[in-house]
Amino acid sequence: MPVKKIIIAIDGWSSCGKSTLARQMAKALQYTYIDSGAMYRAITLYFLRNIIDWTDENQVYEALKNIELDFSANENTGVAEIYLNGENVEYVIRDLIIAEKVSEIAAIKAVRIFAVEQQRKMGARKGIVMDGRDIGTVVFPDAELKIFMTADNAVRVERRFKELYAQNPNITIEEVKNNLEMRDYIDSHREISPLRKAEDAVVLDNSNLTQEQQLEIALRYVKEKT
Ligand code: DC
Repeated sequence: MPVKKIIIAIDGWSSCGKSTLARQMAKALQYTYIDSGAMYRAITLYFLRNIIDWTDENQVYEALKNIELDFSANENTGVAEIYLNGENVEYVIRDLIIAEKVSEIAAIKAVRIFAVEQQRKMGARKGIVMDGRDIGTVVFPDAELKIFMTADNAVRVERRFKELYAQNPNITIEEVKNNLEMRDYIDSHREISPLRKAEDAVVLDNSNLTQEQQLEIALRYVKEKT
């Protein structure tokens, strides 16, 4: 009997390893991985580049009409990367300049409607792992498997610092810590689709887990659901 393909929703705090786990799972299961945060980051990049005043509803509305987002697999890694109007922006959107504004922009209603509509279309064929903040609660409330990830604050700051430091040695641990705290606050307190654990999500705390261990646990959850 063919194995049933499902939707896997991974939500959680910033920098607790959601995308690492999602990528590992997609590879192991031969599923498609979609990084929903990359969509909000790419929209933020567009707004910054085009000097859009995102407090002005009209400007946001008009700007969104000019944004096309696509995912396409990197030839070498096989991992889907994000394209903004045909340009690969997978790497530029990881900059702290984007991280500083993205939560504010992701809280705008029109932006969320725009992104969620596309995310739902991507899930139509199942066999998908999507990570974000509202995947299990809003985008795919019927997802067969929902994982809510968490990790100790200090562990998360350290992980993100290492990642960003590799690209920018001027960055300080304080800056990274402040950014994570600010994003978690805005993401979990916004009016529309705030970050919260879906009632039927399983909690995965990976503070003391290796990547191999977390994958093993997650694949066990998948087995139970398929
Ligand atoms: O996963 P990430 O850190 O790349 O996400 C960047 C921001 O995008 C995050 O701070 C909040 C927002 N986001 C969201 O509001 N909803 C999602 N489903 C994914 C991300």
